[in-house]
Amino acid sequence: MGRIPQNFIDELLNRVDIVDIIDARVQLKKAGRDYTACCPFHNEKTPSFTVSPAKQFYHCFGCGVHGSAIGFLMDYEHFEFPEAVEELARAAGLEVPCEEGRPAHNQEPRQDYHALLDQSDRFYRQQLREHPQASTAVTYLKDRGLSGEIAARFGLGYAPPGWDALAKHLGKNSSQLAVELGLLVARDDGHVYDRFRERILFPIRDRRGRTIGFGGRVLGDDKPKYLNSPESPVFHKGRELYGLYEARKANRKLDYLLVVEGYMDVVALAQFGINHAVATLGTATTEDHLERLYRTVPEVVFCFDGDKAGRRAAWRALENALPLLRDGREARFLFLPEGEDPDSLVRKIGSDAFLQKTVDSVPLSHFFYESLMRQVDTRSVDGQARLVDLARPLLQKLPDSVFRDLMLKQLAQHSGLDSALLTGRIFADESPPAAAPRTTSADGSRRSPVRTAIRLLLEKPELAATAPQPCGFADLEVAGVPLLLELLELFRAHPHLCSGATLEHWRGRPEAQHLGKLLLQPLEIPEEGLDEEFSGALQRLEEHANEQKTAALLQKDRDNGLTDTEKQELKQLLGIRAQDSG
Ligand code: CTP
Ligand code: MN
Repeated sequence: MGRIPQNFIDELLNRVDIVDIIDARVQLKKAGRDYTACCPFHNEKTPSFTVSPAKQFYHCFGCGVHGSAIGFLMDYEHFEFPEAVEELARAAGLEVPCEEGRPAHNQEPRQDYHALLDQSDRFYRQQLREHPQASTAVTYLKDRGLSGEIAARFGLGYAPPGWDALAKHLGKNSSQLAVELGLLVARDDGHVYDRFRERILFPIRDRRGRTIGFGGRVLGDDKPKYLNSPESPVFHKGRELYGLYEARKANRKLDYLLVVEGYMDVVALAQFGINHAVATLGTATTEDHLERLYRTVPEVVFCFDGDKAGRRAAWRALENALPLLRDGREARFLFLPEGEDPDSLVRKIGSDAFLQKTVDSVPLSHFFYESLMRQVDTRSVDGQARLVDLARPLLQKLPDSVFRDLMLKQLAQHSGLDSALLTGRIFADESPPAAAPRTTSADGSRRSPVRTAIRLLLEKPELAATAPQPCGFADLEVAGVPLLLELLELFRAHPHLCSGATLEHWRGRPEAQHLGKLLLQPLEIPEEGLDEEFSGALQRLEEHANEQKTAALLQKDRDNGLTDTEKQELKQLLGIRAQDSG
C-alpha cells in the first residue's frame, strides 16, 4: 500500500468523533465540555483521562499519553498506523485512498509478493509432510522435543535438497518476483536457484499472520547454521519480531513479552506452554522493535546470555528502550546462566522454574545503576561526579514521568548528591519549543512570544489568516520559529483543522511532543482577546528578528564592511527601530 494522503487523514479526523471511538472501548463520563474516564493505559482509581470533543484530542494527566483518534486506536488496540486509519475509515464509511500520482500498478506487485510468499510457505510445509527425504527433518524436530502440534502452530516447513525444487514449483513466470523476495537467487548468467536447500524453515509472519520471509536451519552442523531471507519490499529485519503473531494468537490478553534471541528459543518455550516469547531476527533490538513491543504490552523482559556479549546487547536494548519508558511501561532483564539459552534452560528446569526466573528478573533501574557503578568508584568525589556524567545523557532520554523522578532519586542515593540539585543539573537545558526572550504579555504572565503564538494558533487555527505576509520573522534564529512557520502555513490552507488532526501532521517527529504539551497548557485569555494577543506576539517576534538582523549587520560593518544593499538595509532597520522607540 502506498502512503495515505495527509488530506485524507484530515478529512477522516474531521468526520469521526473521537468521543464515539473511545466511548466504544472505555466508558466515558461527561464532565463539563469534556469527557473523562479512568485511564486505560495505566492503573488509577480516580479518573485523569480526558477526551475533548472540541479538540478531537485525548489526554491523561496521570501518565501523559495523548493524541488523536488514530493515536488512541494505535495505543489501545495495538494497531499499526495504517490499520488504525482503516478502522476509522470503516467507522466513517470512507475508503482509504492511496497517495495520488502513484499508479495502481505500484500496489499490484505487493499483492503478488504476498501470494508468492504464501505459495512458497504452503510448498515448504507440504514438503515437510511429503518429501521422501523429509523424515530426517521430522526426526530432527522430534529430537529437539517439538511436537507435531507446535510445528504446525509455527508453520514449520522443509526446504528439500537440490537446487530448484521451489523454482520449479513456482514456475518461470514468478522467478523475477521470487528473486526480489529472496526466495530464489539469480546467478550472473540469469539462472535462478533456490536460496533454501535442505533446511528446516521457520516462516516469519507479520502481525496479520502473512508470511513475509523465512529463517532456515541446517539439519546438522553445516555452516551457516541459520540462513534468513534478505531484506525485501515486504520484509524488514529491523522491524519484525519472530513469534509476535503467534503470541498474540495464543493469548487473548498479553501482559508482558519475553524477548529472546533465537527461533528455536521461541518455539521451544511454546512447546513448554510459554506462549509469550518473541525473537529479533539475528539483529540487535532496534527502536522499531521496541516501539512495536510497547505498543503490544506494557512490560518487556529481555533474555540475554550472562556473558560479556550478552550484557553488551542488553545495554543496547536498554538505551533504545529509555525514550519509550513513560509511566506504566516497564523493562526487565533476565541474564541466563553460562552456556544456556532459553531453549536449553526450559528443558532443564521446566516451565514453572523458567517463569519464576522471569518474575525474578532484574528491573531496568537496577541493571542501569549496577552497570554504571561498575565503571566508577563512588567512594571518591571524582567518581561521584563521573557517575552523574555517565547517567546524565541517558536520563535525559527518559520522558518526563514518575519513573524518571525515581531514577533521579536513585542517582542521588548512589552519588550522594542532593536530588533537587541533580534535577537542575540534568534537566536544566531541557528546552521546550521556545527558550527565547520572555516578555510580559497583556495578561501579566511571562511567556515567550513563539510559545504564545503557537498556543494561540492551536486554539484558533483561523488566526493564521491574520498573520502578515510576507512574514517578518522567518529568519529569526530562535527555537520554535520553524514550527510556528509550519503551523502558519498549514492553518492558512486548513483554517478549521482540529487539534487531533493537526497533531497527525507531526506524527513521528519530535515536535509532536511539544505540540501535545502546549495543547494542554491552560489558556488564560478570554475568547475575544485571542486576536490581539496573537498579533502582539507576532509583532514582538518581528521586532526581535529586526534586532537580530541589525546586530548582525553592525557586526559585519565592523568586521568586513557592508555592501551598498546591506547599508541600505541597515539604515532602514535603524529607522524602524527609531520609530519604534520614538
Ligand atoms: N542467527 C542468524 N544467522 C546465524 C546464526 C544465528 O540469523 N548464522 C540468528 C537466528 O535468528 C538464530 C539466532 O540468531 O535463531 C540465535 O542463534 P544461535 O544462538 O546460534 O542459535 P539458536 O537459536 O540457539 O539455534 P539452535 O538452538 O538451533 O542451535
Ligand atoms: Mn539454541
